[in-house]
Order: sequence, then C-alpha cells, then structure tokens
Amino acid sequence: MKRDTKTALITGCSSGYGLETARHFLAEGWNVIATMRNPQRDLLPASPHLHVLALDVTRPDSIAQALEAAGPIDVLVNNAGVGLFGAFEATPMSTVRDIFETNTFGVMAMCQATIPRFRQRRAGVIVNVTSSTTLAPFPLVAAYTASKTAVEGFSASLAHELRAFDVRIKLVEPGYGPSTRFTANGQQRMQGLIPDAYAPFAHSVFSGMGQATALTRETDVAETIWRAANDTTDRLHFPAGADAVALALARRQE
Ligand SMILES: NC(=O)c1ccc[n+]([C@@H]2O[C@H](COP(=O)([O-])OP(=O)(O)OC[C@H]3O[C@@H](n4cnc5c(N)ncnc54)[C@H](OP(=O)(O)O)[C@@H]3O)[C@@H](O)[C@H]2O)c1
Repeated sequence: MKRDTKTALITGCSSGYGLETARHFLAEGWNVIATMRNPQRDLLPASPHLHVLALDVTRPDSIAQALEAAGPIDVLVNNAGVGLFGAFEATPMSTVRDIFETNTFGVMAMCQATIPRFRQRRAGVIVNVTSSTTLAPFPLVAAYTASKTAVEGFSASLAHELRAFDVRIKLVEPGYGPSTRFTANGQQRMQGLIPDAYAPFAHSVFSGMGQATALTRETDVAETIWRAANDTTDRLHFPAGADAVALALARRQE
C-alpha cells in the first residue's frame, strides 16, 4: 500500500458492482481494501495497492477486525447487499429482517464504525449504494425497496450532521443489472415467495424485465461510485446506469 495514495474500503467485492468498483479504483491508482465474506485473492489483478480482507457487514466482530486491519481509509463504499423478489404477503418476517440486517443495519454499522476516524481527521467520504427502486416503485420488491429507502433517508440526515466535520455522504442508485450475481445469490431466499394467486402477475413482471432495453452495467456503477467519491459538492444522489438515470430525470420533471 502506498502511503501518499488515497485508500478506499469497499464491501461486497466478490462479484458484480463491488468487484468492478474495486477494479476501477485500482486502475485509477488508489489503494483498495477489497472486502468479501469469503476472501478470494485471485478475483482482482495482483497489485501492491490491493489488500483483500474478510468482512461480513452483519457481524460487529468482523467489522471491527476489518477496520483495524485496514488502517486509515479515505473512502468507505457500502456496496454489499442482498436482493429479494416476491409477493410481500408470502415473505416471512424473518426474511424481511435478514434483508434489513445486510442492506440497512449493515450499512449503518459500517458508518458508525468509520465515522469517528473520519470526524477526527476532518476528512472522508461515505458512498452508500442503494437502488433505482428508491427512484420509482417497482412491483414485488416491497421489502427490498424498504431496506434501501431506509438507507436513503438515513444518509440524507447523516449528511447534515457530518458536514460540520468535512465528512461527505453520497448515495449511488444503480439500476437493474442482470449481469451480476444478484439474482443467483438471492435464489434460495426467494423460493416460494410467488404464491399461485400472484403467478400471472409475476410472470408479466418477469417478462417486462426480460425485455428491458435500458440496463445497468457493472462499469456504470463503478464509474458513478468513483465520481461520487471524488465529488466535493453537497450533491447527494448519483443514479447509475441508463435505466436509473432515466428514472431520476423523470422524477425531477414530476
Ligand atoms: N444487480 C442489480 O440489479 C442491482 C440493482 C440495484 C442495486 N443493486 C445493489 O448493488 C449492490 C451490489 O449488488 P450486485 O448486483 O453487484 O450483486 P452481487 O453480485 O450479488 O454482489 C453483492 C455482494 O454483496 C456481498 N454480500 C452479501 N451479503 C453480505 C454481507 N453480509 N457482508 C458482506 N458482503 C455481503 C456478496 O458477497 P457473497 O459473495 O459473500 O454473497 C457480493 O459480493 C447491492 O447493494 C445491491 O442491492 C443491485
């Protein structure tokens, strides 16, 4: 790790948007602490600027160990997240809580553990990755949308209290990216969440998603996280990907 180079710690780097974001920051010459639940060192190009660490954002001991091992960081990217597609009435509350554990409380816990360091240094940026589901309502993702919308409200409030210490908060809102492991990683959790009564509706939603032309690529998200991390204004929202950018524009015109 180079001492005079900026350092980003990124959660959920084993696949998808997080992995590409780690690649992007490395290519930009930053030090990258790529964190994963199960560290795999061969996913990213070998580099003296890369440090791969174990981190499960739902476990306080894992958060403390990873931050201790990481040393000083300039940017925290809370990218780790899990998906959930299904009819809400069929979704066990234990599953809803699981989603919040990672997508919402995991983000909050990472922020709480990092803020004291940023505050003392009077510098630092937190980038929270939410979703285009916060820009417009989509069907059959009510619990997931709730978990991400909570992060949007949380971040907007936190931005105010941290501004006095020159610590910035950014929200990156990716659109639908079928090329990541998002759906595969959620498959088991989603079993049985489309009861027969919802099947025709779910079928029409799935075929609509299959026909979507505006999608989000991993590189869209990585580039947007990079821009957000380097943005020195008070701008909070950064939609990422053609579909998310279109939704954000439509919302502004309402
Ligand atoms: N793809 C989409 O359509 C889409 C759209 C909007 C927003 N997003 C958001 O974008 C982010 C990245 O998703 P993706 O599409 O790149 O999906 P992905 O390929 O499934 O990547 C998600 C990452 O999060 C990690 N993760 C899950 N639970 C974790 C935990 N408890 N602690 C630490 N890491 C954990 C996964 O690690 P493991 O390998 O250990 O499971 C994986 O590395 C998520 O926050 C997601 O909600 C995705």
